[in-house]
Amino acid sequence: MKINKNLVLVGMMGAGKSVIGQLLARKLKFEHLDIDKIVENKTRMKISEIFKEKGENYFRNLEEKNTLKILKKNNCVISLGGGGFLNEIIRKEIQKSSISIWLNWDHKTLINRIRKSKKKRPIVLNLNDNKLKNLMVNRSKTYAKADYNIKCENTDKKELVKKIIKIYENL
Ligand code: S3P
Repeated sequence: MKINKNLVLVGMMGAGKSVIGQLLARKLKFEHLDIDKIVENKTRMKISEIFKEKGENYFRNLEEKNTLKILKKNNCVISLGGGGFLNEIIRKEIQKSSISIWLNWDHKTLINRIRKSKKKRPIVLNLNDNKLKNLMVNRSKTYAKADYNIKCENTDKKELVKKIIKIYENL
């Protein structure tokens, strides 16, 4: 099989990194790797339990260790957790070895999705909408360092996948 660079999806919680990642991997016939799921499988704990019982630093270390390991592979679509790309060590490695895509949505859409979602997200537990928005504005500065910024608003999943595949195949 031809060696292709990994495609890494970054962006806020609720951006669809896992779902879009799965669809992309299917189309490209790549392996799909979801960092949150890998950490959950390894620890046999939910992310929310890891945060509660071991603390955020413990989670961030596992996130870093597992992401760096996965980044050594190729022909993969990798869905990061929302905080992954904020880690400079992870980000630098992605910039060296992979193609990164920021799934960029309006704050309002993300806040609605996060509030409605069943996925327990420890980071947002104690944040009101205003604080959550500030977090998004801050994080966006770093997500913007991804190779491509995909404005996702008013675009359905299928179209997003098409757009990303087009970018990837025309590199
Ligand atoms: C986090 C996002 C989560 C998960 C953890 C921390 C973050 O992943 O990694 O709860 O800091 O934004 P999703 O972006 O898949 O929700």
